[in-house]
Amino acid sequence: MTAFRTLDQADVKGKRVLVRVDLNVPMDNGKVTDATRIERVLPTIQEIADKGGKVILLAHFGRPKGRDPKESLKPVAEALSKHLARHVSFADDCIGEVAQRAVAALRSEDILLLENTRFHAGEEKNDKDFVTELAKLGDIYVNDAFSAAHRAHASTEGLARVLPAYAGRTMQAELDALTKGLEAPARPLVAIVGGAKVSSKIDLLENLVAKVDALVIGGGMANTFIHASGLNVGKSLAEKDLAATALRIIEKAREANCAIILPVDGVCAKEFKAHAENHTYGIDAIPDDQMILDVGSQSVERINAAINDAKTLVWNGPLGAFEIAPFDQGTVAAARHAAQRTKAGKLVSVAGGGDTVAALNHAGVADDFSYVSTAGGAFLEWLEGKALPGVEALRV
Ligand code: 3PG
Ligand code: MG
Repeated sequence: MTAFRTLDQADVKGKRVLVRVDLNVPMDNGKVTDATRIERVLPTIQEIADKGGKVILLAHFGRPKGRDPKESLKPVAEALSKHLARHVSFADDCIGEVAQRAVAALRSEDILLLENTRFHAGEEKNDKDFVTELAKLGDIYVNDAFSAAHRAHASTEGLARVLPAYAGRTMQAELDALTKGLEAPARPLVAIVGGAKVSSKIDLLENLVAKVDALVIGGGMANTFIHASGLNVGKSLAEKDLAATALRIIEKAREANCAIILPVDGVCAKEFKAHAENHTYGIDAIPDDQMILDVGSQSVERINAAINDAKTLVWNGPLGAFEIAPFDQGTVAAARHAAQRTKAGKLVSVAGGGDTVAALNHAGVADDFSYVSTAGGAFLEWLEGKALPGVEALRV
């Protein structure tokens, strides 16, 4: 069903295979603190090596301006090698003589990681000469970095235009999951969108109301909608200048027959602090000196009912201040409910975005969702309905 060439069509035996991966992992003192992205790219690397290809990995790390030893991928090569239980060699540059010599030394099944592509300005500029330099190193190109696919960079887009290009297994899984989630979902399709700000998710909300059957809005951004509907939000975080935008989104939803589900009660405190003294108030009775930090239990009931009605769920953003207890409870309850429905075979659940993954991990249910994307920006742009350059370049 996919309109992308995948590893099934690639003949990698004896070939130099340039594989774009996302190794932009969180690090502390030279140690990888969350290896999820490393784990996700192992199948593609293993498959190509096992089929006799020479694996040449391309990746970025951080946002360096030029060469910067602090943003070297070298420690990541070591971590990757441990996860693969195979030797991974490393070259100090991704183009030029250093890279060419390292590639020339490869035998079938060898794995080489090249230094941070962003050490060269040509990477982010998608510069033709830089693409040509990279292309010299490979016979074919495989992109397994969905989470960097919103960037039209040399290693994510340019290379796919000059070499035979294929989606890696993680890219393929991501595209399949996202297609099931939004492009061709089993309906009813429900979206949960949370997080602090409406301003960062206007495009996303406008795209979703046109596509989903019901949209649950939670987190700080719900306060903007509550304020826009004329209710008092006390000291809550709210973007009051976006009231008109919120009303426009509600109107668009009405026209598209999309139900909007806003909180009907809120767990409130006087300060943003873990274990702050808190009370639950109806949404039309929020006191002036309180801020809403989580959805209340009646809201959770409604959200869970919406999840019960759904065949497909797309989730981005927490419903409350989940990083400080007890204001994580609404998010945790809804996440566990969605996980149960998924395990019972009643729901396809797709979630993504940095905070969302952290929230699902916190709730202990990330493994129970149908698919959890490791992408941040790319997942959001996909939810906004935007074409991702790295994905577009792989289309047949
Ligand atoms: C990410 O961490 O979201 C991706 O690796 C993309 O990184 P970027 O936002 O620096 O382009
Ligand atoms: Mg990012």
